[in-house]
Amino acid sequence: MKIFSAPDYTAMSRKAANLISAQVILKPDSVLGLATGSTPLGVYSQLIDWYEKGDVDFTKVRSVNLDEYCGLAPEHEQSYHYYMKENFFKHINIQMVNTHVPDGLAKDVTAEGHRYDKLIDSLGGIDLQLLGIGNTGHIGFNEPSESFIKETHRVTLKQKTIDANARFFASKEEVPRYAVTMGIGAIMGAKKVLLVANGAGKAEILYESLFGPITPEVPASILQVHPDVTVVGDEAAMAVIREKCPSAID
Ligand code: GLP
Repeated sequence: MKIFSAPDYTAMSRKAANLISAQVILKPDSVLGLATGSTPLGVYSQLIDWYEKGDVDFTKVRSVNLDEYCGLAPEHEQSYHYYMKENFFKHINIQMVNTHVPDGLAKDVTAEGHRYDKLIDSLGGIDLQLLGIGNTGHIGFNEPSESFIKETHRVTLKQKTIDANARFFASKEEVPRYAVTMGIGAIMGAKKVLLVANGAGKAEILYESLFGPITPEVPASILQVHPDVTVVGDEAAMAVIREKCPSAID
């Protein structure tokens, strides 16, 4: 695992964007696993910048997103379909037909999970998976549980996650209680994983995930056994790692 500390959010975003653009330049038809949340916004805006300058071309890129809220239509402003379109896809030359986000309106979420996992397989798996981290240690929406769930599946969101994500909704009551998320299988099957984290609020959970016991109670801890993980955090998110394992930072 490579762990980089960036001085601030802009530098974190630039470093992560650099790794993604290198991936796309070296393999133009890469399958990118994409993430939502506030953390990757700077990564997307940096990639848009480089696209506009002609430095990176997304024509052949395929993408699969990690998750979607159950019950939100793609046009809903808090849906992850909407987030991806507004914050990334509509600004670059990716073909919309090559972009995929789980269907939050699926009546049968188990069938949707099978469809999504088959789709990822049919694309040849994920070349590079971008991840944020939730304050419960979730990746995608894989919340703490008794076991790691491999397949794309429906999750009941933890109260802590609902509280954290309420900032995007008019009220806490409007935050969906369920989501459909790519499972640990597809994430761990990605050839490369790139985890971004910023802010002091992530410092403890980031340390626990990367250096604590590997347990489904901290879903991100599974990344410790992935062969190619890069973590990019800003100073604040790196604080506990810097204090307890300074030599782990590259
Ligand atoms: C959301 C997403 C995650 C994301 C996490 C952290 O709930 N499902 O993919 O990593 O929360 O979000 P943020 O980056 O806003 O802290």
